[in-house]
Formats: sequence, structure tokens, C-alpha cells
Amino acid sequence: MFKVHAIAPHRMPELLQAMPKAELHIHIEGSLEPEMIFALAQRNGVQLPYANVQALRAAYAFSNLQSFLDLYYAGASVLLHEQDFYDMAWAYFERAKSDGIVRAELFFDPQTHTARGVAMGAVMEGLSRACADAHSRLGISADLILCFLRHLSEEDALETLEEALPWREHFIGVGLDSSEVGHPPEKFARAFSRARALGLHVVAHAGEEGPPAYVWRALDVLKVERIDHGVQSIHDAALMQRLVDTQMPLTVCPLSNLKLCVFKQLSDHNLGQMLDAGVRATINSDDPAYFGGYLLENYLQTFAALQLGAPQAYRLAANSLEASFASEDDKHRWMHELKLVFERFAEHD
Ligand code: ADE
Ligand code: ZN
Repeated sequence: MFKVHAIAPHRMPELLQAMPKAELHIHIEGSLEPEMIFALAQRNGVQLPYANVQALRAAYAFSNLQSFLDLYYAGASVLLHEQDFYDMAWAYFERAKSDGIVRAELFFDPQTHTARGVAMGAVMEGLSRACADAHSRLGISADLILCFLRHLSEEDALETLEEALPWREHFIGVGLDSSEVGHPPEKFARAFSRARALGLHVVAHAGEEGPPAYVWRALDVLKVERIDHGVQSIHDAALMQRLVDTQMPLTVCPLSNLKLCVFKQLSDHNLGQMLDAGVRATINSDDPAYFGGYLLENYLQTFAALQLGAPQAYRLAANSLEASFASEDDKHRWMHELKLVFERFAEHD
């Protein structure tokens, strides 16, 4: 066991930035900043129902997941060409670099684009070119996870998966996102079974707003390798035990939960309790352009609100690296670097 030494509170922000981290729950369309939405609208001749950047940003006051999704899909309507997808992802990677991210697994929603007549190839090639450049130019290891929109039918999901197969080498897994309540995991049993047969990784949003039963079914029916969000699991003791026993990773998104009113205040968030219980939780940004912060900001605000310290910082960073779908070699290298960072901060304390 690696011994984590205490670190002075005033040095925590610097530590949180410096420690190598993975981001495992970021919807790349949720990284579209209002400025880029307007720039792409102008470039592509798309009309927006907002007068300017300020008016759009002012609309970012959400009462629940659906109120956000309505705006999020409207924002994505400016994405038409391969270069648009590249530019969006590249802007995220530059931010990721400054936040100390060494590994990023990007969710993307092809149905949001193909339903508007955008070619699957434009989405796939723009995003995968940005991932390749993130690796060669920024040293960030990056891969794509194709998400099915759960408010659409399973047939639509199955067709989308087949349509994406010419680009099979460009994505490593599938996920399940969009409106949760009323669209339980088992609705997508066949789509996930097909994805697993293709050798893809499988993850799903569950227990963001939906009940613990949705987390159970994501595990038992979809056979997911990680649960996205999962914060409602805390209301089911047997489920918590299962998550701990199997060390199932949870990709928790604190600022998202705050902005979508899952918790009233950040200090009410259950991440600290999850970690104390032995759940393999991670911190992620979800849709950073909409929720007021990228990954480092999520760490900073959560650590301040929940009064977390160096042991939790080490656990969260280690959980993120270990729960990633990167190679074992990469994971070992990052874990070594993580330990060096903690030793460096302890020595100077
Ligand atoms: N799509 C983008 N962000 C999402 C979230 N937080 N939950 C479900 N679907 C999403
Ligand atoms: Zn999400």
C-alpha cells in the first residue's frame, strides 16, 4: 500500500492540478462553449434562437436533466462538418492538458448529428483526428465511446452501431445517455449484447436521477464495466455492497449534479461517503461548458465543499487511472508518476 502523507491545505490546489488524472465521463458536445457555438453558427450559416453569447449563457439555469438536454441538443446543431468536430475536441484537449489530464475517454452522441443529416464519417473522422493529435502533440492518451440516446428506440441504437462499424477502430466502447427516467437500461439489452460481441467496452449512465434499480439492471442486464454517475446507489445498501465487493467504478460528476439539482448544495454531495464506504468513485466534468467547470474545477470545488484532503486526492486520481480502458503499461506508468507527485509534495511540506 502506498503511504499518502498529509499535505498542507494551501498546497492542495497545486497538488490536484499536478497529479496525473483520467477523465472518464465527458460528453464532448458538452464542451462546446457559447463562444464556439456562435463562431460555428456563423461559419456554417446556422440561425440560433439567442441574440448573443451572453443571452445563451444566461439560459444556462437548469432545474433537472431534461431542462439541460433541451439546450445541449440545440447547441450541438451548429456542428456540421468534420472540422467542426475536430475544433470542438481540440479545444477540450487544450483545456485537459492544463488540468493535468493524461487520459481522456470522450463520449459522443452520433444520433444527435446523423438525425440532422450529418454524415457519420464527419463525426468519426473529426473526433478521431483530434484524439490522434492530442496524443502526438499534447501527450494525452484519448479514445472515443459511442453513446446511444436512451430516449430513442433500441432499433435506432442498433442501426447506429452498424452504421458506425466502418470506423470500428476509431471507438473503444459504447455508452448510454440522455433522458434517464422512463428509459431503463434493459430497453437496450440487445444493443449492448451486440456491442459486447463486437469486443467493445460497455458503460451506461444509471442512477443520476433514476432509481438504484436502474444501476442493478445496468450491471446485470447490460453487464457494464463502469456506471456513469450512480450517485442514487447510496439509497440501496445491498447495491452499495455490490459496488464495493466488485470494485465497480463510478464516474461521478459533482458540478453536473449541482447544476442539475441532484444535490441542493455541493456540500450535500455524497462523494465523500462513497469513498469512505470503499466505492471506486472518480471525479469527472460531464458537460463542462454548461456546468461551470472543467475537471480541475470539479476537483477544486468538491474538495473545498466536502473538506477532502490528500488521501482522497490520491484515491480519486488512482481510481480514475485504474478504471480507464487504457493499456496496462500506460496505467502502470501513470500510477508511478502519481506516486512521484505525492512524494514530491510531501517532501516540501
Ligand atoms: N448527455 C449529456 N450529459 C448528460 C447527462 N449528465 N446525463 C445524461 N445524458 C447526458
Ligand atoms: Zn453524462
